[in-house]
Amino acid sequence: MKMLALLKAAPLLAACVLAKANLPAIPDDLTTPFQQRLAIYGPNSVSIGWNTYTQLNQSCVQYGTSSDSLSKRSCALVKPTTYPTSRTYENVVVLTDLTPGLTYYYKIVSTNSTVDHFLSPRTPGDKTPFSFNAVIDLGVYGEDGFTIAGDKTKKDTIPSINPALNHTTIGRLANTVDDYEFVIHPGDFAYADDWFLTLDNLLDGENAYQAILENFYTQLAPIAGRKPYMASPGNHEAACQEIPFTTGLCPDGQKNFTDFMHRFGQTMPTAFPSVSANYTAQILANQARNLAAPPFWYSFEYGLAHVVMINTETDFDDAPSGQGGSAGLNGGPFGTQNQQLQFLEADLASVDRAVTPWVIVAGHRPWYTAGKTCGPCQEAFEPLFYKYGVDLGVFGHVHNAQRFLPVYDGTPDPKGMEDPKAPMYIVSGAAGNIEGLSSLGEEQPEFTAFADDESYSYSTIRVLDENNLQVDFVDSVSGEILDSATLFKGHTERFVRQS
Ligand SMILES: *[C@@H]1O[C@H](CO)[C@@H](O)[C@H](O)[C@H]1NC(C)=O
Ligand SMILES: *[C@@H]1O[C@H](CO)[C@@H](O)[C@H](O)[C@H]1NC(C)=O
Ligand SMILES: *[C@@H]1O[C@H](CO)[C@@H](O)[C@H](O)[C@H]1NC(C)=O
Ligand SMILES: *[C@@H]1O[C@H](CO)[C@@H](O)[C@H](O)[C@H]1NC(C)=O
Ligand SMILES: *[C@@H]1O[C@H](CO)[C@@H](O)[C@H](O)[C@H]1NC(C)=O
Repeated sequence: MKMLALLKAAPLLAACVLAKANLPAIPDDLTTPFQQRLAIYGPNSVSIGWNTYTQLNQSCVQYGTSSDSLSKRSCALVKPTTYPTSRTYENVVVLTDLTPGLTYYYKIVSTNSTVDHFLSPRTPGDKTPFSFNAVIDLGVYGEDGFTIAGDKTKKDTIPSINPALNHTTIGRLANTVDDYEFVIHPGDFAYADDWFLTLDNLLDGENAYQAILENFYTQLAPIAGRKPYMASPGNHEAACQEIPFTTGLCPDGQKNFTDFMHRFGQTMPTAFPSVSANYTAQILANQARNLAAPPFWYSFEYGLAHVVMINTETDFDDAPSGQGGSAGLNGGPFGTQNQQLQFLEADLASVDRAVTPWVIVAGHRPWYTAGKTCGPCQEAFEPLFYKYGVDLGVFGHVHNAQRFLPVYDGTPDPKGMEDPKAPMYIVSGAAGNIEGLSSLGEEQPEFTAFADDESYSYSTIRVLDENNLQVDFVDSVSGEILDSATLFKGHTERFVRQS
C-alpha cells in the first residue's frame, strides 16, 4: 500500500525536483537594454530607466526630434546599480530642457537597441485636453493569458509586443497607444511574491521571484518605454512572501521593497517647483520637494492636472505593510516620522487652481470599497484630501472596478457630481493578475455608482477642461467602455481650504 503510493507519487516528485523557475535567456550582447521605463521627471524633463545583464561603464541615451537625427546625448552621472539576488543592473538617464508637448525619438546607447519615441510632458497650466490611464494590480502573463482578437485598425505606431500579450491589458494599452499620454500605476506590479502559485517554481523560489520580475517588466517595456509610467508601491512589492510574518525568511534583495526602490527610485520625480505667482505657494512647493521620497511619495504636474502619488503601505500610523503592520510584511520606513503626511499637506497646500485646477491623488489601498477597507489609510489621508479639496482619489488593491459618488467620512456629498466639496473615488484594480478578479460580495457602500467584478479592466481619466473631468472604465478584452462619468467642479477658489 505504502509502496504503491510512493510509486504513484514518484513521477510527480521527479517533475517537481527537475522543474525550475522560468528565467529569461541572457542575451549574447550584454549591452542589450531591457525593461525600459520612462517617467515625467520635471517640468521639461523625462527620465529613461532600463536594465542590462552586465554593468555598463556608462549609461547613455541619444535623442532628438527626428528619428534619423538623434543629435543630442545624455549620460548618467552615476554607475548602474544592482542588489543581492538580482541578475541585472539598473540604468537611469535624465533628459532635460525638452520642448513641451513634442515627439522625441530616443535610442539607448547599445550595440543592440532600436529607436523609440515619446511625447514630452505638457507644461503645468497648458489647457490642452489630454487623458491618462490608471492601471493597478497588473501581473505577469504567460502564453496562456486571457485572450481576444487583436485590434488591427491602428497604423504604424503600435508598440511591438509579444503576441501572447495582445489579448491582455498590456495589449489594449498598445492598441490604444495614441489615445493617452501617460499611465499611473499605484501598486502591485509583477506579483513576484506569488511565485509559489506556479508549481514549477516550488523548489526554486529565489530564482522564481527574480524571473517573474524580469518577465513582467520586459512585457511592460513596449508601453513603459513609450509612455511615462508613474509608479507607487503596493503590498506585492514588499517582500518575497505574501504569507504574513514569514518575510524575515526572504533573502536580502527580496524584502523591504528592494526591487521597487532600485527600479523606480531614481526615475520618479520629487515635486515640481510652483509656477504660481503666490510666494507662499512657491515655498510650500519647495517644502514638498524636500519631503518627497520617490518612488514612495511624490507629485508632478501635467497640463491642467496636479497628480500626487502616495504610499498606503508604510510610513503612517498602523500602516499595513510597515513595521509591525497588519500585513506582516515589515517594510520601511522610507522617511522620518510623519514625513509622508507632511509632504502631502505641503504639496496639496501649494496647489494654485488657477494653474492646475484638477488635483488627483493615487494610492494602492482604498478606504472606500466593497469588502475590506484600509482603516489606517483613511485615518491618515482622508482629512487632508477633504481639507485641500482633492477632486479624485484613484485606488486599486481590490481586483475589480468600482466608482463612488463624492464622499467624505462615509457621508455622500449632497451635491453629487455637480461641484461637490468631497472627493470622488474609484477602485480600478481589475487589470488582471495571477490572483484573478475579486468578487464584490454582498456589502457595497450605498454611494456606489458603478461596480463590476466580471471584466478585466483599467480606467482612463480625461482632463477635458478646467471644470470637467471624465472617468471611464475600459474593458481590457473588448475595449468597450463599461462605465463613463463626468465630474464637474467650479474651481473658483485658487487655494482650497475646507473644514
Ligand atoms: C538583441 O536584443 C533582442 C531584444 O531586443 C534580443 O532578443 C536579442 O537576443 C539581442 N541580440 C543579441 C545578439 O544579444
Ligand atoms: C568597461 O570598460 C572596461 C575597461 O575599459 C572594458 O574592458 C569593458 O569591456 C567595459 N565594459 C562594457 C560592458 O562595456
Ligand atoms: C498582435 O498585434 C499585432 C499588432 O497589432 C499584430 O500584428 C499581430 O498579428 C497580433 N497577434 C495576434 C496573435 O493577434
Ligand atoms: C497664497 O497662497 C496661500 C497658500 O499657499 C494662500 O493661503 C493665500 O491666500 C494666497 N494668497 C493670495 C493673495 O492668493
Ligand atoms: C527599508 O529600507 C529603508 C530605506 O533604505 C530603511 O530606512 C529601512 O530601515 C529598511 N527597513 C528594514 C526593515 O530593513
